[in-house]
Amino acid sequence: MPETDVSKEEKKFYEDVPQKNPVFSLKGSGSLDWGMKDRLSRIFSPKTGHTVMLAVDHGYFQGPTTGLERMDISIVPLIPYADALMLTRGILRSLVPPDSNKPIVMRSSGGPSILKELSNEEIAVDIEDAIRMNVSAIALQVFIGGEFETRSVHNMTKLVDAGLRYGIPVMAVTAVGKEMVRDARYFRLACRICAELGAHFVKTYYVPEGFRTVTSSCPVPIVMAGGKKIGELEALTMAYKAIQEGASGVDMGRNIFQSENPVAMIKAVSAVVHKDLTPEKALEMYNDLKSKKRKE
Ligand code: 5RP
Repeated sequence: MPETDVSKEEKKFYEDVPQKNPVFSLKGSGSLDWGMKDRLSRIFSPKTGHTVMLAVDHGYFQGPTTGLERMDISIVPLIPYADALMLTRGILRSLVPPDSNKPIVMRSSGGPSILKELSNEEIAVDIEDAIRMNVSAIALQVFIGGEFETRSVHNMTKLVDAGLRYGIPVMAVTAVGKEMVRDARYFRLACRICAELGAHFVKTYYVPEGFRTVTSSCPVPIVMAGGKKIGELEALTMAYKAIQEGASGVDMGRNIFQSENPVAMIKAVSAVVHKDLTPEKALEMYNDLKSKKRKE
């Protein structure tokens, strides 16, 4: 039946205005499908292109890590300040309030504990459960140069295939064995392999020498891993340098939740990542927030 509501003259067809074709600006992600882009835009702010992910998945191989013994007490209050949460499905279901509506990057590999060879991981989540939990991405460890290198790379390609079927991006985490050299050469190799074989973004460590070569040779976004607890200024400096040298965000755990004031620290990290605040200014911000809290 033809339209009868109003005459053609009253309708607005804007015949002379070409349809807008906005570019999806996240690095290397322009050719992805709509669902992928939607999920990635929940993690990476469309305004800044950056993200502050809070990593609290440590229990999957090392149990109740310092600061994560009671995540309902230590981590739930931090949720509003993170752009996304990286955690396991166990913690997601048992402790994270579903109405916090935070994008989830779900740890999807596991197997060995700290008592065994860590590279001997397998995929530990069915893609159906990732869909059921409405996650924004799935994540796993890739052990380039590790004893079970090939297995971990295959875990990733399987997860990428599953993610592609349903529009769920995969974050590969370049794992470093205790005895392995952490330099730009190694991280270029590891990040590039992850991206070439399908990872949609890669989590890797900052290195003072040549980090820009790591970000520039990786065709998808890189988020900087935090690593063991260091001083606040040092951690803010590392995040600042990583962003200035091409990282699209950070995925930090212990340097936030083991800080004397985790809320102040995540706010300071966020200012570095989204507002280019210098480390010195960010430390000032951290100290101000910390002393305000003490006075309350
Ligand atoms: C190891 C991981 C972690 O389990 C975790 O995310 C590490 O966070 P941080 O080192 O910042 O405490 O992915 O690679």
